[in-house]
Amino acid sequence: MVDKTSKPASHFASLAAIAAVLIVLVGAFAYTAGWLSPERLTPAKMVNVLAPASGPAPGFRRNHAKGICFTGSFDSTGAAADLSRAQLFAVGSYPVTGRFNLGTPDPKASDAMARVRGLSLRVQTPDGSEWRAAMIDAPFFPVSTPQAFYDLQRALADKRDPDAMKKFAAAHPEIGAFGKWASSAPFTASYAEDRYNGLNSFVFTNASGKDQVVRWSFVPLAQPENLTGDQLKARGDNFLAADIAQRVRTAPQRWTMLVTVANLGDPTADPSKAWPEDRRTVNAGTLVVKQIEAEPDGPCRDLNFDPTVLPAGMHVSDDPFPAARSAAYSVSFNRRTAEDKDYPHTGEGAQQ
Ligand code: HEM
Repeated sequence: MVDKTSKPASHFASLAAIAAVLIVLVGAFAYTAGWLSPERLTPAKMVNVLAPASGPAPGFRRNHAKGICFTGSFDSTGAAADLSRAQLFAVGSYPVTGRFNLGTPDPKASDAMARVRGLSLRVQTPDGSEWRAAMIDAPFFPVSTPQAFYDLQRALADKRDPDAMKKFAAAHPEIGAFGKWASSAPFTASYAEDRYNGLNSFVFTNASGKDQVVRWSFVPLAQPENLTGDQLKARGDNFLAADIAQRVRTAPQRWTMLVTVANLGDPTADPSKAWPEDRRTVNAGTLVVKQIEAEPDGPCRDLNFDPTVLPAGMHVSDDPFPAARSAAYSVSFNRRTAEDKDYPHTGEGAQQ
């Protein structure tokens, strides 16, 4: 016999269960999207704040937008194999795709105006693994945390409060060292003459399973020629790409990879703090830049130099930056690849 009186109640229970599931799903979505905590720093917000006042350049990287791609090799000495079991540190020569770039979201910025220059690398090894890295020529980062990096961009863009930067500097005194570097470090005449520093700390694991915290730098073999402000301006807006193309046509350009090993107690979670000069360093190998490649539609275009793409034998440390960078680079990558129709595949706006 069917109990007719129980039907509306069971309907109600089913509807309530469905509603509960929907509420949980919408809640989870809203939480993930940051709607429940508008103050939470999301990768999308991090990327939005990098845009210049005129808006982002569609199709381009949301930072380090101007650059020039290259290919070459990483010729390992084998000396870092004691530190990391990654194949790229075993004696050998491994293919590299890389990019020289300027720390600006504007692909048309003048080379003379860019204080920060960068070097990005992807090294591939026969075991199928890859190492990706993106470094800059500053000896330390301006701020200690990803949140402070976001707050810095906001302060720089704040048109309403003339004291925004003063207030930021008071709350983040570490930026003083970067300010001194930015106003006093010489500009060299070439990407080939710059030293590029990884700044973030990573952990190397060797074949015995021993972990050590390291940072790395690529030190140029070319002797630096320092330019005065006037000389820099006289070189023109796009001299860096033309210069490196000319040099590489003449001869391969080289950098030594120096791995620096932290002592116990060194600040591993804060890239604004350089480690003392006397730390143990290992010459891991040589980056050899052999060919300049097209930047528009060249081999770097669809590459995301995500600093968390690491082979076995290397992993992230307690430094919060690589994870924050990875999330932001991915947002930038997704946006720029979705904007293919706006990307100047050839011609105006596409730098060489
Ligand atoms: C939280 C801090 C940071 C944020 C939010 C950030 C953001 C970004 C974004 C959005 C891109 C463009 C990625 C793409 O579209 O492929 C980029 C590129 C780059 N960044 Fe960062 N970055 C941060 C920290 C750093 C640090 C610490 C370094 C160096 C030590 C660095 C060096 C570079 C370089 C060299 C590139 C160019 C990569 C390429 O050639 O594709 N960044 N950054």
